[in-house]
Amino acid sequence: MTYVREARRMFPKTPFRFAWHHLSHASAAFAASPFEQAAFLCLDGKGEDISASIGIATGKRTKILYELPCENGLGLLYTLVTYYLGFDSLGSEYKVMGLAPFGEPTFVQKLRDFAPSDANGALRLTRHVNFTPTSMSQAIDALARHLSVAPRKRKEPLSNAHIDIAASLQTIFEEEVLKMARFARKATRQTDLLFCGGCAQNCVAAGKIRRSGLFNRVFTSPVSSDMGTALGAALLVHQELNSSCGGKIDPNGFYLGCEPGDAPLEASRYRLPIGGTVHKTAARLLAEGKVVGWVRGRMELGARALGARSILGDPRVEDMQSVLNLKIKFRESFRPFAPAILAEDSGEWCDAEGPSNYMEYTAYLLPKHRYSVPAGLSGLSERLHFPRCRLPSVVHVDYSARLQTVRRSVHPDFHKLISEFKRLTGVPMIINTSFNVSGQPIVRTAEEAWQCFRHTDIDYLVLNDAIYDNPNDKTREEKTSWARQFEKYS
Ligand SMILES: [Fe+2]
Repeated sequence: MTYVREARRMFPKTPFRFAWHHLSHASAAFAASPFEQAAFLCLDGKGEDISASIGIATGKRTKILYELPCENGLGLLYTLVTYYLGFDSLGSEYKVMGLAPFGEPTFVQKLRDFAPSDANGALRLTRHVNFTPTSMSQAIDALARHLSVAPRKRKEPLSNAHIDIAASLQTIFEEEVLKMARFARKATRQTDLLFCGGCAQNCVAAGKIRRSGLFNRVFTSPVSSDMGTALGAALLVHQELNSSCGGKIDPNGFYLGCEPGDAPLEASRYRLPIGGTVHKTAARLLAEGKVVGWVRGRMELGARALGARSILGDPRVEDMQSVLNLKIKFRESFRPFAPAILAEDSGEWCDAEGPSNYMEYTAYLLPKHRYSVPAGLSGLSERLHFPRCRLPSVVHVDYSARLQTVRRSVHPDFHKLISEFKRLTGVPMIINTSFNVSGQPIVRTAEEAWQCFRHTDIDYLVLNDAIYDNPNDKTREEKTSWARQFEKYS
């Protein structure tokens, strides 16, 4: 009750209701899910005094049955190793997940000695660590001594040992999450699962829970990080005040943000004539290997661009991944991109386990689409650049891909664009990455999109119903310096 007392002290005259952090996570997940009742597994760094919880959510009640107290659990371990690997800004854990397939899990035992766990996935670091800078810094030193590998400094090249440590961490994470999911199945007797909390952004683990067969259906919250807790808290209170209301969000997607507004005046000089629709023209440009910014309609909620504020490319182009990473996103070259694929075609290309409207899990490219890779490739660069399939820019080195399955009923506009691309190329998918540079929030308005467009090497911008050519009036130095303002957040 310390938190409630503290809140009352801060706002003595304001009526308020306290929404517990993990319940807020679970509530947001439930509201976006198709379930009437489900188990939930909530996993994050810390929420009040717990780091993991298992419970049941219904339209009437969201209740925690089991919880792991203290913060030095699985979420903190992932953050600690992320910092140790030199990705030291808050929320960089997904970079380690992206790095993991390049390595071998040779440090699993050593990491397990540092953070042992029980049969149900209750993991604890052997020393008490919390999220304060001093504690994390001391823990990084202890981890380095334990692994006999020096921590990587920010921007230093990645050594093979560091890449193997990323692979080992991801292995442990997936094993522990599966143990917890198994326990949740047994403890709640529910057949559907909501996977939520910041750790549910680990879409590889989310995919493994789906494929495990432990639950009939698994739904991963599209706003599983703390950005979803405000929504969850509002829904909890709504539930409390209107006990009969299930509090569901429109199943037709999460496009709840604002429209972009009008293009800036200066853009009119660069407006191109369109032959046919913007969809046809943009699809043709994509098929010619151009990079296209796509800003149409209401913005998507959450950390991932879902076809309303996106940068798009052709997944068949061999060097598209490095062009997008280095010249447009200004980020590490190994980072993979996600395919947006027509939902009706996803089974022909991937082992997709149900819809992924929000890029919430990874699937694997079917073997018939893979090229054979010679044994003995080693090192990040060699593995990164070997062609693995005809869609090299959206398929990771382990043939995984973080899918967005696009349904006509959910996002007809984006579906129309990908359909046009398929008509031209025979490939029912395009690269879809968020419209921003590294560290920058996803662009929201037309003005933000225009500024990002002209400071990067994006070739064309689709903004509302118009297409613009890039003015190309900025030097490389000006572009780099513009992007650098966001660097501290990357
Ligand atoms: Fe959280």
